[in-house]
Amino acid sequence: MGAGAVVLGAAGLVGRALCDALAEGGWRVVPVARELCDIRDGAAVRAVCRDARPEVVFNAAAYTNVDRAEAEPDLARAVNADGAEVVAAAAAEAGAKIVHYSTDFVFDGEQERPYVETDPPAPLGAYGRSKAEGDRRVAAAAPRHAILRVGCLYGRGGRNFPSTVARRLEAGELLRVDAERRVSPTWVREVADVSLALAASPHRGLFHCTARGETTWADFAARMAAELGLPDARIQRVSDAGLALPARRPRRAILDNQALRRLGLDRLSDWEDALRRYAATIRAGQ
Ligand SMILES: NC(=O)c1ccc[n+]([C@@H]2O[C@H](COP(=O)([O-])OP(=O)(O)OC[C@H]3O[C@@H](n4cnc5c(N)ncnc54)[C@H](OP(=O)(O)O)[C@@H]3O)[C@@H](O)[C@H]2O)c1
Repeated sequence: MGAGAVVLGAAGLVGRALCDALAEGGWRVVPVARELCDIRDGAAVRAVCRDARPEVVFNAAAYTNVDRAEAEPDLARAVNADGAEVVAAAAAEAGAKIVHYSTDFVFDGEQERPYVETDPPAPLGAYGRSKAEGDRRVAAAAPRHAILRVGCLYGRGGRNFPSTVARRLEAGELLRVDAERRVSPTWVREVADVSLALAASPHRGLFHCTARGETTWADFAARMAAELGLPDARIQRVSDAGLALPARRPRRAILDNQALRRLGLDRLSDWEDALRRYAATIRAGQ
């Protein structure tokens, strides 16, 4: 049997992709969903890490509702900053490396060039603030850490933009999609693959980890429809302001995977290429 891993947040989008990739890679995986262990509960997290004796703890558990966080900033902070620190400390105590996830929302999106890892965070909302604080606290609590900043993920299971697009277009429903903000939609499977490579390596630090290239969610939805042979006439292109969401979002938070590239670990594809391969898995019913 291979090395051991604990995956916290195992029922989420990233958590599921990690569990699949780890199992395929021959790791001994202990998937831990929120019902089994709340990451705010230090004793519970320490017990999981002690009992599983992992080489790596993957923390994919997080408060991820960007809009609701505006009304619940304390809860977002309790999970994404306090909880993340609890996990990092428990991993360190158990002698394990921690692989933790952060977000492009730590930036305000006003910079014209893509963000590198050394650019200072300037979050626009409560979610981004809680995640930026989580990054600092994880790095301080666990010397052996890899923090991956991801963004605009899609894939199997969890909250999933392409499957919502497909379902609503098939049902002939109107789809109002942002045609303004610049994003790099990223297939979660590629994030999982890079996560495993970092987990198995001695490398530590902060890593931007998003697909190459950029688009808008509206163009992504149209491309998705084309890949799946669905009509795109019901896609209504709106501005960010037109969606009137509670949380402000960065206008263009494009990340440069500089740190991964320097290690030869930037295995992320161009977003269109990854979408084509993802759509092929959907068509094949995988
Ligand atoms: N998806 C994206 O586009 C995206 C973009 C940028 C960054 N990220 C980051 O990637 C990581 C994984 O996100 P995701 O997309 O997989 O989110 P997700 O699908 O919402 O999964 C997060 C998981 O964490 C669980 N959770 C929430 N609070 C918890 C707690 N206190 N204790 C234990 N588990 C808890 C959730 O359970 P419940 O469902 O029961 O609440 C859920 O299963 C997060 O750090 C997120 O900030 C994701």
